[in-house]
Amino acid sequence: MSELKWWETATIYQIYPRSFQDSNGDGIGDLPGISSRLEYIANLGVDAVWISPFYKSPQNDFGYDVSDYYEVNPEYGSLADFDNLLLGAHKLGLKVMIDIVPAHCSSEHPWFIESRKSKENDKADWFHWADPLPDGTAPTNWLSFFGGRAWTWEPRRQQYYLHNFLPSQPNLNFANKQVRHALKDVAKFWFDRGVDGFRLDAVHTINADRPPYIDNLPNPHYKVGPFPKDQQPFFRQLHDTAQLNQPAIQEFIQELRLVADAYDGNRFLMGELDSDNDNAIEVSKNFTASGRLHSTYNFDFLEWKGLDVSGIKAVINKAVDEFNGTGNISFAFSNHDVPRVATRQLTALKLHKGQAEAMQLMLLKLSVSLIGSTCIFQGEELGLEDVQDIPIDEMKDPWGIEFAPEFLGRDTCRTPMVWDSTESHCGFSTGNKTWLPISRNHFKMAALEAANKPKSIYCQFSEFLKWRKKQPAMISANDMTKPWGGEREIIFERRADKQNIRCMFDFYTLTAEFKEV
Ligand code: GLC
Ligand code: CA
Repeated sequence: MSELKWWETATIYQIYPRSFQDSNGDGIGDLPGISSRLEYIANLGVDAVWISPFYKSPQNDFGYDVSDYYEVNPEYGSLADFDNLLLGAHKLGLKVMIDIVPAHCSSEHPWFIESRKSKENDKADWFHWADPLPDGTAPTNWLSFFGGRAWTWEPRRQQYYLHNFLPSQPNLNFANKQVRHALKDVAKFWFDRGVDGFRLDAVHTINADRPPYIDNLPNPHYKVGPFPKDQQPFFRQLHDTAQLNQPAIQEFIQELRLVADAYDGNRFLMGELDSDNDNAIEVSKNFTASGRLHSTYNFDFLEWKGLDVSGIKAVINKAVDEFNGTGNISFAFSNHDVPRVATRQLTALKLHKGQAEAMQLMLLKLSVSLIGSTCIFQGEELGLEDVQDIPIDEMKDPWGIEFAPEFLGRDTCRTPMVWDSTESHCGFSTGNKTWLPISRNHFKMAALEAANKPKSIYCQFSEFLKWRKKQPAMISANDMTKPWGGEREIIFERRADKQNIRCMFDFYTLTAEFKEV
């Protein structure tokens, strides 16, 4: 059996830089802050960190709107701070992944500023431009994830441009070779600096269409659900036949894979993608076909309303069907885009508040026991709850602001980390104000205290990760059985040549058991 690559079984700790650790008292987390907490992360026993975007950006979508792919946003530090972080992480044996946003950039990026000027300039074809329909309306019925139309009128150029997210996040045109080159150069720049991999943001929204663009069809499965998110018009359409997930994406992906492979064979490409009607696992197959991405960042456990036991089982079933024997899938129960597990899953599993800690620990163990890699989001190791009482005038996420108060968006999972419970800002910042408020409920879950309490989630999970690393069945072959078990039970086996481990998760007692069989 050939040896698995690091990323095929990795536990990856996701850092949201704005909310991790502030080092200069401005209330905003930064790169030197991350450097100062690397030991805490390494001691948890994870293999890698993935850092959400810290590039130069007007921060309309908090870094997912890049205005310079080669610079660090001044509020996060400098390139030298990044190099220092990389060195520190590598010294502790941690791989470093960073987020690249290929599909769109900021409307303040010089590429867009030039492109919008006229139909003739050098960058004229770098974005998706289209004439209005004869009645003056947008070229297609496409909607933006964040509300409103996916087309915005640009008076200078007298055309519409495409943006799947905010109007200040124009979609790059991947039909244009120069665009693909430009993004590959970005990847090279960071690989050359020493990063071990990328999380590629929203690859399913990369677009290489040319006019005329075609309309999305209505979604026949759409029904108004009990959740405010279900009621957003975006979900009334099917996107995969027109707006998203288009075959041309693979052309760029294949080119990028060649870039990664030209290094030492250890650079990892993990693409974030989604699809219509919970089809992400099937779509991922195509994205991870030979010569494409190493792995896709799977959305199925990130269901906004959480999953009950049968829902979790169904995801595992599908993953085994499609990906058994490979490390080409990455799971996550939590990230910077969905409500936190300790709240979301508590409701979905019909548990009570006192059970949150046990549930969080069990789900962490479950997710790292599956084939492939697992991303855990900062604060999951503490069992932080979602913060749903941020006053509307202190909300920052444009998606939440658009749909509040019914839908709160993503600030609820992005509040700053709590490091200790002594100071007013819990060791996150020495300033007067933090960019998002820190929840009082989090005070008692402070990270540095948890790291010293043997019964804390942090310590128990850390012990588990260290045990896991010594079990061939868990880390040397990506082989597992289909899950089985009663209504509130998930059981499966991980299998290697010389060891089988039965992994049992009991959703009554909220305990996990692992037995050699
Ligand atoms: C991804 C990111 C999200 C961002 C969006 C647009 O889904 O995770 O935070 O808003 O892409 O870049
Ligand atoms: Ca700062």
